Formats: sequence, C-alpha cells, structure tokens
Amino acid sequence: MTNYAICVLPGDGIGPEVINCARRVLDTLTARGGPGFTYDVHKAGYDLFLETGHSMPDNVLVAAKAADAVLLGAMDVAQIPPQGGDPLGGLRIGLEVSASVRPSRTIPGIPSPAADIDCVVVREVTEGLYSRDEYMGDDDSAYAVRVITRDASTKTARMAFAQAIARQQASGKPARVTAVHKVGVLKLSDGLFLEACAAVAEEFPDIEYETRNIDACAMEMVREPGEFDVILATNAFGDILSDVAAGLAAGLGLAASACIGDRWAYFEPVHGTAPDIAGKGIANPCATILSVAMMLRYLGEDLGADAVEHAVNAVLADGAVRTGDLGGSATSAEMTDAILGQLNAQQ
Ligand code: IPM
Ligand code: MN
Repeated sequence: MTNYAICVLPGDGIGPEVINCARRVLDTLTARGGPGFTYDVHKAGYDLFLETGHSMPDNVLVAAKAADAVLLGAMDVAQIPPQGGDPLGGLRIGLEVSASVRPSRTIPGIPSPAADIDCVVVREVTEGLYSRDEYMGDDDSAYAVRVITRDASTKTARMAFAQAIARQQASGKPARVTAVHKVGVLKLSDGLFLEACAAVAEEFPDIEYETRNIDACAMEMVREPGEFDVILATNAFGDILSDVAAGLAAGLGLAASACIGDRWAYFEPVHGTAPDIAGKGIANPCATILSVAMMLRYLGEDLGADAVEHAVNAVLADGAVRTGDLGGSATSAEMTDAILGQLNAQQ
C-alpha cells in the first residue's frame, strides 16, 4: 500500500477543528483500501508565537519540506508582530510555491449570489503588494514596496495555463486565461507582470488569453460571473478576487486551495481562523476536506480525490446536514460524519 507522509499544521482558531475533520476523511479512505497517511503534526501560528516568541520555527519548515505534502488549517497572522515571523509568507516562500490555485463554483443545493460560476483564481503568493517590504518615511508617511519578478510571474502564469489545459480537457470546452492588472497606473510592475504572462500565453496557443483591469474585472465578475474561467493575478489582486469568486459561489466555507511548486506543495482552506466560532465545534469543515481532495490529486490519487469530492457534493446536495454558514445547524463532526457516510456508501 502506498503511504504518504503528510506534514500537518493545524494552526489557530478553527484550524485544529477542521484539520481533525479532514484527517478523519483521509483515514476513512485508508480503511476503504486507499493509500495510507502518516501525520507529522507541528504547531505554527499565533498560539505558538505566544508560547515561544516564534510563529514558524525552522524545524517546521524542515518537516514541511521532508513531507510528501503539507496540510494547513488556518493561522492568525494579523496578531503576530513582525518579530514573531510571518508563518504563511515564510511557508510560501520556503516551499517555493509561487501560485495558489483557488477554484470557485456554484454547487447544486447551495444558494449563491451567482446563478452559475465555475472559475479558478490562480494567485501569486510570495511577492507583489504583500512582499512585506514596508517602511516608514517619517512619522506621517509609510511605504509598501510592490515587488514583481519575472520568475514568480512566469511560474504563476504557467500554473494558470496548466489549469486552463486541465479544465479544457475535463469539460471539452475552450478555456480562457484572464490576466488581471492595473498597468495604466502600475506601469513598471504590472508592465513586467503582463510581459511575463504574454510570453507564457505564446506557449499555449490553444488557450484563449485576455487581460483585464482589476476594477473592471471585479465588476464583471459580479455582473457576469459565468464569463470567467481561469483568472491569473498578482498577490493582492488575487487575494481579493479569490474571495469575490468564493462569495459569488458557495462562500468561504467551501473554498479550498492548493499551493503547488516545483518541489513542494501545501493545501489549505481559503478561510481564516474565525475566532468568533473557534472552539465551538461548528465550523464548516468542507473547505479543508476539499483542500484534501486537491492534495490527493496532487499526490496522483485521483480516485480518492474524486471520491472525496463526490461525497462532499452529495452531502451538500442532500441538504439534511449542513453547518450554520450554509443555513443549517449541524456541528463540524456531524457534517464530517455525513461525508464519511457518503464515502462509505460509494462502491
Ligand atoms: C489568504 C489569506 C492570507 C493571504 C492572509 C491570512 C495573510 O487572506 O490566504 O487568502 O492573503 O495571503
Ligand atoms: Mn485572503
């Protein structure tokens, strides 16, 4: 039996709760004859910073690199002062992942503002406006450096086109990549980003390629959500648009993500630590469970990935068991039980 070593970083708030649910899903796959999973669990994030003064110690990054994949819950980065480190940024840069892949689509049975949306935001995650290069000019002025490199832009664009190819193959319909920018203002940085994207687009003549201004793109996503396919964006624009897409679709409770680099990869729900409901056992575990499905696909376990996605979709479509964010009253454990029930019911 294939066995995968998974580095697990539950993090803060609802992170550990949703990670426990996701591990039950993986263990059920194993029990059904699927691959085995060994978990190397490490503390990282705000709680660890409070305990030790560091939010992402070096040994955690070493463990993450030693694993076949990393599964992350959520981290309360906003509360960590600069000297406590930057756990998410550190992980993304350390694992050399460049791009976060964030799919959003309407799901049968789940009410959503958009009648029909099926898109994926491919977002650069290591630089851009979130380069963390900030400084004070004087007491009354502060600066943030927006870093764009050809290398990270090219890697992110390649990931976007790879997604487009996969979607084209799966749907049989033509795929399109939309690169998002504000080049009229950010002439140098978005100029370089678009130059890198256009060069990659030439490698993929079968995929339609277009560019849109960030403001117009956000408006069009709200007005014509069904028009979008693969959205390729720098860090901050992609952060915002991936939440817009999730909001138009089924909400953050179902938004999964994959950060895949050349050597390492990590998987996490798009949502944060949700301090208002942390510890209550009522968080929606689906975003993390769907992130696990993306992890299974990355590991080459397509059958397991399909099984998990089908099980989640079946529970959502049935509607009897739903967490509060989806209008129900189920606990995280009950929602997970229902998903495991669907998994066990599959052939
Ligand atoms: C995300 C989150 C993070 C980000 C925050 C918590 C730093 O919002 O993954 O979308 O923007 O990178
Ligand atoms: Mn975000």
